[in-house]
Amino acid sequence: MERIERLQRLRERCGEWRQAGLRVALVPTMGHLHAGHLALIREASARADRTSASVFVNPLQFGADEDFSHYPRTLEHDSDMLRDAGCDLLFAPSEAEVYPRGREGQSVIEVPGLCDQLCGASRPGHFRGVATVVAKLLNMVQPEVAIFGEKDFQQLLIIRRMVEDLNLPVEIVGAPIVRELDGLAMSSRNRYLSAAEREIAPQLHANLVAAAARLRAGVDCAAVEHEAEQALAAAGFEPDYVSVRRRSDLAQPAPAPGTPDDCALIVLAAAWLGRARLIDNLACDLDAPLA
Ligand code: PAF
Repeated sequence: MERIERLQRLRERCGEWRQAGLRVALVPTMGHLHAGHLALIREASARADRTSASVFVNPLQFGADEDFSHYPRTLEHDSDMLRDAGCDLLFAPSEAEVYPRGREGQSVIEVPGLCDQLCGASRPGHFRGVATVVAKLLNMVQPEVAIFGEKDFQQLLIIRRMVEDLNLPVEIVGAPIVRELDGLAMSSRNRYLSAAEREIAPQLHANLVAAAARLRAGVDCAAVEHEAEQALAAAGFEPDYVSVRRRSDLAQPAPAPGTPDDCALIVLAAAWLGRARLIDNLACDLDAPLA
């Protein structure tokens, strides 16, 4: 595996691949890799001739009071994991390489509508930072396909919308959430959990499973959201939100019977547990209305 820090070298290598007619995949990450990221690499390898990954802790997507300076940076270990997983290229740029004009001087990308709700409501500017760095990484590597985890479902939809709106010639693929045996979604931020919090953490997923069952039993969305938030608080979480949305566009579903889009739902949750802000989601399909 080749490790590249400079944009010029990255362009040369990816240009050679394109000239040779090879299909290139990109897996953007912020490092501190775990089995969930390796599943993204496997997905990428299955869809392309060459697999690249980026490791860049993007300052633009952290709020002033968030964990940018403490975010785990484990580049040597990440590099070993990527090499062992069969990744061909690791792009690990410095901040100056990505933002040569500084954080303030950078042109940014707004994705209206999707950015300000759910996680965007409690993390103002977060998705602007995500959309901006992902657009830059896609332009730097120019892959045919890029893979993102479905755990950050809102992020995935925002990236899809941005790619569509800006006519970027890349296929965006979402890969299923990878979970620990007890159901906890894998995340670099799980390392912030104490041993006692780690015991409680799987209840986030368990509550989503219960919420989906209640929806399928015909309970209305607002009641399901309220019950799940109460259950999380009782378990020791500080819930940010539990929200039932349409998978297609994150809009609130119309009451039954609605359209097929109003039946293809997703329950999304974000909750603090100690120092960790955990997010998770679960798809939930209701019976579609008869045509
Ligand atoms: O999901 C992440 O790890 C980050 O938001 C991403 C997509 C790598 C952009 O920094």
